Amino acid sequence: ENDPRIVEIASTIREVPNFPKPGIMFKDITTLLLDHKAFKNTVDLFVERYTGMGIDVVAGIEARGFIFGPPIALAIGAKFVPLRKPGKLPGEVISEKYVLEYGSDCLEMHIGAVQPDERALVVDDLVATGGTLRAAINLLEIAGAEVVECACVIELPELKGRQKLEGKPLYVLVESH
Ligand code: PRP
Repeated sequence: ENDPRIVEIASTIREVPNFPKPGIMFKDITTLLLDHKAFKNTVDLFVERYTGMGIDVVAGIEARGFIFGPPIALAIGAKFVPLRKPGKLPGEVISEKYVLEYGSDCLEMHIGAVQPDERALVVDDLVATGGTLRAAINLLEIAGAEVVECACVIELPELKGRQKLEGKPLYVLVESH
């Protein structure tokens, strides 16, 4: 993108080597959150894109999708639905397992949180292998929602996460190589 706001947002993301494991270069968005202008511009860029698109639901992925999702939902007039790690939601849930580099994890969503044919946007901070977004899309589609797009602040394109989305649109602000 050539929006100068995106260049500034990218500059606020801290890279932490060897976290949480040796060899991983962690993209830390907490430094973006410390910069009011960058945080506001991040939310605004998504709000500008999704205003007037008839989005009923913003589904945020634990944990950092809970930071960016709610301000977007409030601004575009959508409800917010948290997609949580196993055992955290108190009501009846549907679950979707996904594969990680080592082992597997799971996301859960409350039954009844979204209605059939509602239009959903999935929000997270980062897409790496795409397994997490894939699980989120599956949960929403099982509930009968239409996933309009996935939105992330950062993409690691080398990990080819987009391929797992099988053509489902993915919008990112910053590509990190
Ligand atoms: C990170 C990130 C995404 C996911 C992306 O979460 O915030 O949710 O990994 O990886 P993928 O595209 O390979 O699926 P993390 O696993 O660190 O969990 P946390 O947010 O609960 O700390």
